[in-house]
Amino acid sequence: MNHSIRNVVRGVGSYLPERILTNFELAKTVDTSHEWIVQRTGIEERRVAADDQTTSDLATHAANRALKSAGMSPNDIDLVIVATTTPDRTFPATAALVQDKLGITKGAAFDIQAVCSGFVYATATADSLMKNNLGTRALVIGAETCTRILDWEDRTTCILFGDGAGAMVIEALPVDEAGDQGIIASRLRSDGRHWDKLYTDGGPSLTRGLGKVRMEGREVFRHAVGMVADVVEGVFADSGTSVEELDWLVPHQANRRIIEGSGKRLGIPAEKVIITVDKHANTSAASVPLALDTAVADNRIKKGDLVMLEAMGGGFTWGATLIRW
Ligand code: ACO
Repeated sequence: MNHSIRNVVRGVGSYLPERILTNFELAKTVDTSHEWIVQRTGIEERRVAADDQTTSDLATHAANRALKSAGMSPNDIDLVIVATTTPDRTFPATAALVQDKLGITKGAAFDIQAVCSGFVYATATADSLMKNNLGTRALVIGAETCTRILDWEDRTTCILFGDGAGAMVIEALPVDEAGDQGIIASRLRSDGRHWDKLYTDGGPSLTRGLGKVRMEGREVFRHAVGMVADVVEGVFADSGTSVEELDWLVPHQANRRIIEGSGKRLGIPAEKVIITVDKHANTSAASVPLALDTAVADNRIKKGDLVMLEAMGGGFTWGATLIRW
């Protein structure tokens, strides 16, 4: 591992499809209400990709915006990682399709499947690869068309998810140039015993099909706060930092109650926690970079801030990454 390198965030960007699907509209097709959804989840609306839009299209939009904010062109990128559960195709990787849409022909591109934790997994993976000289400038993307794998008759799941994408450009810099900026530490976890609490009931090998989202919501909820606290506290310990030094918690946007519960458990004041789930629902791997981009764009997250990304999802998988902005 090359300890003379720090991987610094150079830009972020995100994209939400135009079509807004409100709780009120959903309540016309399934037995639910705006009030129930807001009270239990904090979600007010979600986005739905157009029929001719795929995950790689959403990812490419977000990537272009991240490149613009980094002041870079696609040519500068030699590593593309897309975290997604809803790839355009079984293969090739959505990252290869994004690479093609951006006109990138060098370096490496691949997907990561860690469901809602995908963006944290992808960021930690990019950090590791770049510290091993396998890339100098990376596009780390979380992109999903979750609405394509929902059962629109199941009110316990179809109200929760939406489509979107977010991206981050990371550059490997010599430590003396990076200063204290960059990715500081990450923890990744999974426990496959819990696979059947959040899954699709089909897939290429199992059913030769796609499958729909199935979930034991109460069970997910029961585990989420503890798992998030476990990795966030682990990252504080690994990095020799403490919760008091943290400027921003950027959590996976699944459910306002999980986010608030995690913040409380960790002792992080509510005003330091970024919440955007009301506007786009759970976009799985896209939710952390969507929240991140919102908080960077509105100038809450500024250079020098200490920022913790965290997520938990199907598998179960969970993870956290600490970044000096
Ligand atoms: N509208 C109205 N009523 C509903 C709906 C709905 N959309 N969905 C379920 N109900 C009913 C149930 O049928 C049940 O009725 P009953 O008491 O007559 O049986 C009642 O509401 C309560 O159901 P619960 O499942 O106990 O409701 P809960 O308060 O747990 O909320 C929820 C459900 C929102 C899914 C919650 O468990 C949750 O948020 N879990 C976390 C799951 C999650 O966020 N998953 C996202 C993916 S995982 C991840 O990203 C981390």
